[in-house]
This record gives sequence, C-alpha cells and structure tokens, in this order.
Amino acid sequence: MSTASPSLDLREDILRLKKERNAVILAHNYQSGDIQDIADYVGDSLGLAYQAKETNADVIVFCGVHFMAETAKIVNPSKTVVLPDRDAGCSLEESCPGPELEAFLKENADKNYYVIAYINCSGHVKALCDVICTSGNAVKIVESAPADRPILFVPDQNLGAWVQEQTGRKMDLWQGACYVHVEFTKNSIESIKAKHPDAAVVAHPECTFAVRLLADEVCSTEKMVHFVKDAPQKDIIVVTESGMLHRLRKEAPEKNLIAGPTDHCACADCRYMKMNTLEKLHSCLDLLSPQVEMPEDLRKRAEAPLTRMLELSK
Ligand code: 13P
Ligand code: SF4
Repeated sequence: MSTASPSLDLREDILRLKKERNAVILAHNYQSGDIQDIADYVGDSLGLAYQAKETNADVIVFCGVHFMAETAKIVNPSKTVVLPDRDAGCSLEESCPGPELEAFLKENADKNYYVIAYINCSGHVKALCDVICTSGNAVKIVESAPADRPILFVPDQNLGAWVQEQTGRKMDLWQGACYVHVEFTKNSIESIKAKHPDAAVVAHPECTFAVRLLADEVCSTEKMVHFVKDAPQKDIIVVTESGMLHRLRKEAPEKNLIAGPTDHCACADCRYMKMNTLEKLHSCLDLLSPQVEMPEDLRKRAEAPLTRMLELSK
C-alpha cells in the first residue's frame, strides 16, 4: 500500500510530465508556495520575460497571470505556452482596454505621444506603444525616452507617479490601478509601524503615494529580495501581495517579515494570482491546455516594444 500523500504524487507526476514534454515551469513571486517550490525559476515580470525568451524547452508552463504568459508567447513564439488558469487576469490590464487606448491615441494624434506601457497590459495595448517597462526597469526606460516628445504612461497611475518622482520627467498618466496595492492605507501601515518601530518598510510601486511615503524602499518584487537580505534591520514590513512572503522566507530566513494582522494588513492575496493551483498546473502540463494563442500580426507589433525594453534594460 502506498503511503505517499496526494500532493506528493501530484508533485511527482508534474515532474514526470515536465520531463516528458521537455517543459520549463516559470512562476511569479506571487504564486503559492507549493507552485514556487516546484518551479524551475521564480521571479518578477522582468526576470520571467528574460527566462521565457532564452529557454530551450519546448513548452513554457507559465504560473502567473495571463498577461505574463502572453508576454512569454510574444517573445518566444515557437514555444507552446500553457497556463494553469486562463481566467487569471489583472485589474491593471482591465483598466486599459486596447480599443479605448487606440481611440484615445487617435483623438490626441496631434500630441505625438511617446507611449510607455507597464507590462501589466494586454497584447493589444503592447502593440500600440513604443516601449514596455516593468516595475524593475521603469525608471531606466523613462529616462531613455526622447526628450522632445510628451510621454503617455499606461495603465498604472501609481507606478507612473512614482517614476515621475524618481526621474523628474512629467508624464500624462492613464488612471488605472492594481486593486490589491491600492487597498493598503497610510493608517494601516502606520499602525503596524507603531507596533514595530525598528522595522524597515518595503513597498511595491503600485502602492499609493501616501503608502510609498512611509516606505524605506519602493521596488519591484525581485529587488525586494535583495532589500530584505541586505537591510540592517531584522524586522521588515512587506507591503505587497502575500505570495512574496514565501520567496522572502526562503531567501532570508533570518529576517522577521511582518505582513500585519488582518485588520491592519500590509500583505494581501491577488485573487488572480491565486487562481493557479498545483492541480491546475498538473492539468495544463498533461493536456497542454489552456494555451496562449494570438494572431501573428498582433504578436509582431507587440514584440517590437518588448524587445526594445529587453535591450534597454540589459
Ligand atoms: P513585479 O514585476 O515587481 O514582479 O510586479 C508584478 C505585479 O503584478 C505586481 O502587482
Ligand atoms: Fe495585477 Fe495587482 Fe494582481 Fe499584480 S497584484 S497581477 S497588478 S491585480
């Protein structure tokens, strides 16, 4: 009689299928711990885009949200790209529908905007812009924009405002937001700080201005790993999506990570990221479905600004 637990069997079967299919499992830092632990690579949007472009595997299993898997297909179209749940979307992507941006750009054609799109957007939006950025390279990308053209930054008003503060470059900001990061408030972070006066605060740039003001460091999820490891403080208040805590606990076990009590929260679940489960990961590897597909002309138009970003942030 087998004594193996169902999750152990599932893990083993995922590894067997991965070998059979010559697949690579890429996971975002916000995925659940069991998915992070079985992945070949765990990282932020930028690191994941490089991994997707450079992989020799035949199949990319992308554990994140849809725009991330779509990005993998755009930069590496000959690969089969599957994702555990096709419905894993993103509130930022939803806040900037392609047809709306297209109409806005037509109405404002006289402005000759240089359009910078945060990677959290659809393939249609990517295809309409000049260059893509992630939270990890947004400052660099904005600094490299032509000085003689006005910039339109889509879709995240908070990341856009933070980059403006960092670079001094004025931009027109699309009014989108991440529903997870705008829930953290000045009051909630202040009350956690009051209980942990010696703690450092690290926050994602999708947070509001009032929350960013309270942070010692504002950065992408990958840079959070370096900040937490290098910070002289032992106590760190982490203001982002809760999956980050698993990665940080593994990388910096000596640190005391403070996510806050539920009434004063500094970490919260993204319902889209958490749609992925080990069971669905197993199923997408087994069935090679759902797959990311997109029309080739759209893919090509979206590829140019992504390639520009990857070259600029090397
Ligand atoms: P990172 O690129 O910093 O990992 O952020 C992605 C994201 O979706 C944040 O909400
Ligand atoms: Fe989108 Fe926010 Fe979820 Fe990141 S945390 S995937 S920005 S909804």
